[in-house]
Amino acid sequence: MENFEFYNPTKILFGKGMIAKLDEQIAQDARILILYGGSSAEKSGTLAEVRQALGERTFFEFGGIEANPAYETLMKAVDVARKEKVDFLLAVGGGSVMDGTKFVAAAVPFQGDAWEILTSQGAAVKQALPLATVVTLPATGSEMNNISVISRKETGDKLAFNSEHVFPVFSVLDPTRTFSLPMRQVVNGVADSFVHVMEAYLTYPQDAMVQDRYSEGLLLSLLEIGQRITTASTEDYDLRANLMWVATQALNGLIGAGVKQDWATHMIGHELTAKYGIDHARTLAVVFPALLKEKRAAKSAKLLQYAERVLGLRDGTEDERIDAAIRQIESFFEGLEIPVRLSAYDIGKDGIAPIISQLEEHGMVKIGEGQDITLDVSRSILERAL
Ligand code: NZQ
Ligand code: ZN
Repeated sequence: MENFEFYNPTKILFGKGMIAKLDEQIAQDARILILYGGSSAEKSGTLAEVRQALGERTFFEFGGIEANPAYETLMKAVDVARKEKVDFLLAVGGGSVMDGTKFVAAAVPFQGDAWEILTSQGAAVKQALPLATVVTLPATGSEMNNISVISRKETGDKLAFNSEHVFPVFSVLDPTRTFSLPMRQVVNGVADSFVHVMEAYLTYPQDAMVQDRYSEGLLLSLLEIGQRITTASTEDYDLRANLMWVATQALNGLIGAGVKQDWATHMIGHELTAKYGIDHARTLAVVFPALLKEKRAAKSAKLLQYAERVLGLRDGTEDERIDAAIRQIESFFEGLEIPVRLSAYDIGKDGIAPIISQLEEHGMVKIGEGQDITLDVSRSILERAL
């Protein structure tokens, strides 16, 4: 195991009715900006519950943060926050709203061009406004991490930053707030969380017993949730509660501590979203199985461990078990009605070159746990995904 520092200051308030706790968590004299997405938070009643919990406090609202939040939109929120002198940000939404709020938190006190927050991958961030979240879509883990992914419409970039200063102070996770989600977003959340665990886990043996077993527990939970979620009632509280908690833990830093991680699927996936507008989770379902086929030799020991400990596969040759593990991952996504081929999005061979150029432009020329996924290897992965 490698040396590591683990720091995660986010307080979690989990369960039915927990939005009311905002009243205990935020200072009476705070000047708050509530940030949200399109119409879902209003329609589902989540915003009304938030306003009620804030009571007499001074708050302002900024709506319209889109999926794959845009820098251009967020800079308008920065203007509002500066003009109204807000001192606390409250995100009400999914990953896009939470990530957007982290960017606004860092941008408000930022001197100079705020895009540098992204181009420096967060290194330029020296302070941020405090922020908290009310989660409506379990998927990204943004509610308990310091990562934010922001798109810029003008240039077609989709870049990530992270900074110790943008961990949410607290996050409210009320599973009933997910009941209004369209099934497409629910299954996206299952797939995204699954790949978050895999990015940390499915590398090579690193003698990290706790991280491995913890990851396998999360994967087993996600497989079970995935099997049940599309046919279960949309108001199955316990199932939604389990999805919410697993999604948070899939990317809160714990399973990735002390191990080399992959993240190439995400880096390639982000470029697919930037170029073709495919939902984040859906890009991962296309790239991840193809990446496993491409990196089969380097990942064979972990694929066999996954096959045995998570899928219970012990019979057959090593090659047969690895084949079965990769097939199982594809059918897991397909069972969620998420395609695993680029052709499902009408992307053919000529659609690959722009993705490779974008990876190059963003410096993604040696990615993966072995830093050996060069542009040629990324091209080959995408060809396998056609
Ligand atoms: O805009 P509204 O009307 O609110 O609708 C949203 C949006 O259209 C809807 N929605 C959210 N909660 C709902 C709801 N609809 C009904 N009922 C509810 N309770 O869902 C749609 C998608 O929302 P979005 O926030 O975009 O989805 P998600 O949570 O999957 O976030 C995706 C973004 O997170 C980034 C992605 O790149 C993408 O930009 N990621 C962030 C990460 C992080 N911070 O750690 C890691 C991830 O790997 C990922 O890259
Ligand atoms: Zn993701």
